[in-house]
Amino acid sequence: MIVITGATGNIGRALAARLHGHDPLAVVRRPADDLQSRYAIADFDRPETIGDLLSPGDRLFLNSGIWPGFVAAHRAVIDLAAKAGVAQIVAVSVRGAAPGRRLAMGLHGLVDAHLEESGVPYAILRPSGFMQTLPRDFRDGTMYGAYGSAGVNYIDTRDIADVAAALLTAPVGPGRVYELTGPPSLSHDGIAAEIGKALGRKARYVNLSVPEMAAHLVRQGIPQPFAGELAALQAETGDGSWEATTTVVAELTGHAPRSWQEFLTDHRHLFA
Ligand SMILES: NC(=O)c1ccc[n+]([C@@H]2O[C@H](COP(=O)([O-])OP(=O)(O)OC[C@H]3O[C@@H](n4cnc5c(N)ncnc54)[C@H](OP(=O)(O)O)[C@@H]3O)[C@@H](O)[C@H]2O)c1
Repeated sequence: MIVITGATGNIGRALAARLHGHDPLAVVRRPADDLQSRYAIADFDRPETIGDLLSPGDRLFLNSGIWPGFVAAHRAVIDLAAKAGVAQIVAVSVRGAAPGRRLAMGLHGLVDAHLEESGVPYAILRPSGFMQTLPRDFRDGTMYGAYGSAGVNYIDTRDIADVAAALLTAPVGPGRVYELTGPPSLSHDGIAAEIGKALGRKARYVNLSVPEMAAHLVRQGIPQPFAGELAALQAETGDGSWEATTTVVAELTGHAPRSWQEFLTDHRHLFA
C-alpha cells in the first residue's frame, strides 16, 4: 500500500490521482469524497492516527503544510513508520533545507536529518518555489517582493507529484536527496511578463527593500517577526542561489518540467 499524507494539498491531490492502480490510501483530516483515491481520516497533530494506518512493506509519502507542531509531528510519524516496518519514505522538503536556516528551510532541515538517521530507506524531495502559489501573490495583477533582479526557480507542483509517483512505484533505491527544479529560471519581472502575456493583461512585479517588504506584509495582516523573516527569506532566495536548474525531473519522469506557458494555460482562471 502507498500511504499519501497531505493528500488534499497541491502535490498530494495530483499524486493520489497518478497512483491509481497502485493501492494508494490518502490520509485526510476530514471527509474528501472528491479525491480520486480511497481515504482514511488521520491527523499529524495526533501522529499515532497516521502510525495506525502503516503496515510492514508500505511506502509512505510524507508531506503537509507548515504549522508550529510541524517538526515534532513529522519526526513522530517517521519513528512510527520505522517501527511499523515501512519500506520507504518519500518526503517533501524545500530547496536549501538545513538545520538553523530561516523559516521552512530550517524546519525541513531538522525533519530531513531525522529521516536520514531513521533507518528507513528514504527519498527527500527538495523543490524550488511552487508556481501554484503565484495566483495568490499576484493580487490585482501586482506582486510585491524583495527578491531583487536575479532569476528564481519555480516548479509546477504536478512535476513534484510525477517524481514522487515514479519513486514510490519503482524498486526502493538507496537513500537520496533530490533537488527538483522547474523550467529555466526567470527574474520576477520576467515572471510578471510571462503572466501578462498569457493572460492578455497587465501584470507587474514591484521590488521592495527587505524592511519595506516586511512593512507591506504587516499591513497585509502578517505579524512580526514572521513578516521580517519572510521578507529576508525572499532576498536570500533572490540572491542567485535559487537560479540554477537540475535535470532530476526529466531523469525520473521521462518528461521535461512543465513550462511557464503550460502552467499559465492550465491555471489562468486562478489569476482572475
Ligand atoms: N509553497 C512553496 O513554494 C514551497 C516550496 C518548496 C517546498 N514547499 C513545501 O511543500 C510542502 C507543502 O506545502 P504547501 O503549502 O504546498 O501545502 P498544501 O498543498 O497547501 O497542502 C498542505 C496539506 O497538508 C495538510 N495538512 C496541513 N496540516 C496538517 C496536519 N496538522 N495534519 C494533517 N494534514 C495536514 C493539508 O490538509 P488540509 O486540507 O486538511 O488542510 C493539505 O493536505 C511544505 O512542506 C512546504 O514547506 C513549499
